[in-house]
Amino acid sequence: MKKYIVGFTVAIIGAVLFLINFAYSPELLATDTNYPNYYQEKAIHSRDGIGKFYLGREIAQVMGHQAMMWLERPSREIQEQPLAVVNALDLKPTDIVADIGAGTGYFSFRIASLVPKGKVLAVDIQPEMLDVIEGLKKQKQVTNIETVLGEVDNPHLLKNSIDLVLMVDAYHEFAYPREMMEKIFSSLKIGGRVILVEYRRENPLIMIKALHKMTQKQVKKEMKAVGLKWINTQDFLPQQHVMSFTKPD
Ligand SMILES: C[S@@+](CC[C@H](N)C(=O)[O-])C[C@H]1O[C@@H](n2cnc3c(N)ncnc32)[C@H](O)[C@@H]1O
Repeated sequence: MKKYIVGFTVAIIGAVLFLINFAYSPELLATDTNYPNYYQEKAIHSRDGIGKFYLGREIAQVMGHQAMMWLERPSREIQEQPLAVVNALDLKPTDIVADIGAGTGYFSFRIASLVPKGKVLAVDIQPEMLDVIEGLKKQKQVTNIETVLGEVDNPHLLKNSIDLVLMVDAYHEFAYPREMMEKIFSSLKIGGRVILVEYRRENPLIMIKALHKMTQKQVKKEMKAVGLKWINTQDFLPQQHVMSFTKPD
């Protein structure tokens, strides 16, 4: 009896692994020319993900604008130390900064005062988020933030125009990370930087959903794929990596 139970369990585990790993159909994706083969789709996947995988990582669902108050929670000051982050960016007053996946502008506003002769382009795909930023701009009388409505595969930035791209808790939910990063790469000036702030996936004790965290190894792999060069990883935050990359000559 015991050996039947063991056999049955092995068969079930085998079937689940089969569905997870082999549900991807390259032929299906290859027939759609708008959908290059950077990605895999799997029928069985995390309920926090979109079932689409890039370089071995499942892409997380986008945080809807309905949850925007979560981005403005007071505990974030302690948990994510936004002022320490923006000070670590080492900005020049004339810098042009793109805050991609800007949400309510939590970081855009903190950066704006550091680039008085430059500007912040606050990019998001949800117009509701950009409406909040526009409202706050008026309220706070900030004139050097411009909102940009992006698309899932295009941040709509001019080529060779950006000194620094910042993505805080956002990159892991880009549905087209490869297309986004290729366009971000071409929007950077030579020597321009990309900074990603992501919760550390190496640490299972960090109480954030797995798909909303990223390992250093994975981030490096995805940035290298578009030609960005890793500069350093700073771990001064309690729970997040601050990873810097540059566009080489
Ligand atoms: C978790 S929120 C973080 C917002 C902000 N960076 C912060 O730290 O407060 C992620 C944001 O990324 C945006 N987003 C997702 N995919 C995007 C894309 N392809 N391009 C631009 N923004 C995107 C979402 O709409 C959402 O507002």
